[in-house]
Amino acid sequence: MSNPTAKPVALVTGSSRGIGLAAAEALAREGFSVAINGLTADDELAAAAARVSRHGAPVIAVAFDVAELAAHEAALTKIEAELGPLTTLVNNAGVGVLKRGDLLDVTEESWDRCLTVNAKAMFFLSQVFARRLLARERSPLFHSIVNVTSSNSVAVAVQRSEYCASKAAASMVSKALAVRLGRENVAVYDVQPGLIATEMTAPVIDSYRERAEQGLTLFPRVGEPEEVGAVIASLASGRLPYTTGQTISADAGMLVPRF
Ligand SMILES: NC(=O)c1ccc[n+]([C@@H]2O[C@H](COP(=O)([O-])OP(=O)(O)OC[C@H]3O[C@@H](n4cnc5c(N)ncnc54)[C@H](OP(=O)(O)O)[C@@H]3O)[C@@H](O)[C@H]2O)c1
Repeated sequence: MSNPTAKPVALVTGSSRGIGLAAAEALAREGFSVAINGLTADDELAAAAARVSRHGAPVIAVAFDVAELAAHEAALTKIEAELGPLTTLVNNAGVGVLKRGDLLDVTEESWDRCLTVNAKAMFFLSQVFARRLLARERSPLFHSIVNVTSSNSVAVAVQRSEYCASKAAASMVSKALAVRLGRENVAVYDVQPGLIATEMTAPVIDSYRERAEQGLTLFPRVGEPEEVGAVIASLASGRLPYTTGQTISADAGMLVPRF
């Protein structure tokens, strides 16, 4: 029987730091129980779990490689055994390129890594999440998948072409999931962050700041992970009712066409 008093439960992949951690904290503040994730069960993941649990929500840390498809089922089984049925999947884990540079020098290793972690893993983890969801009677809670892609789903950064290709694939995965899962009343969103200050962008953040101040973004500054986290939590909480398949650009208007 469905449980009308059930609480929302979210898995946020890649939440040991950065945008994922900010999303996990925002979801905890919204009353979600939260499973956080990173590649390895290290001190960073433990510190992230402690930080999220300060918001009073039940939190568990489940380390697994999202790119290892065989690990998905066991990870979701563990989360649901400890926190209850998942209502929400935030596919946030992602990697940058192995080396920025000329497209003519991109290696197969970097291409495969980007496509596998940033697109393939999201597709198959969503498949496992959805299959489990559809196999049980559901609570009346809002159910969603929120995929964190990038402005590079749309805009080329030619020194990171394999990353752009992986994010474009991830955006199409989001649309396809929205089409398939609409009839199941599962909302699917594509959140496209722009220039956000995290470990991923640390080597280039000064140049991003300069370009933002010079007008690359409509708000003349780079963004903070907490700002993207707030967008993700708003979507996952169902605060945009009667929407699905949407792209939300968390990029200070960077891609608004201008001349
Ligand atoms: N920062 C930006 O400006 C920006 C802009 C657009 C899009 N994004 C996207 O936003 C997402 C988060 O980026 P971020 O800037 O917060 O990056 P980040 O600080 O580097 O954090 C990445 C997170 O993903 C995890 N991760 C990486 N590979 C993983 C794997 N195979 N399995 C499980 N976890 C994995 C990392 O955990 P471990 O340390 O354990 O590996 C970490 O928790 C990414 O998808 C990124 O592409 C970021």
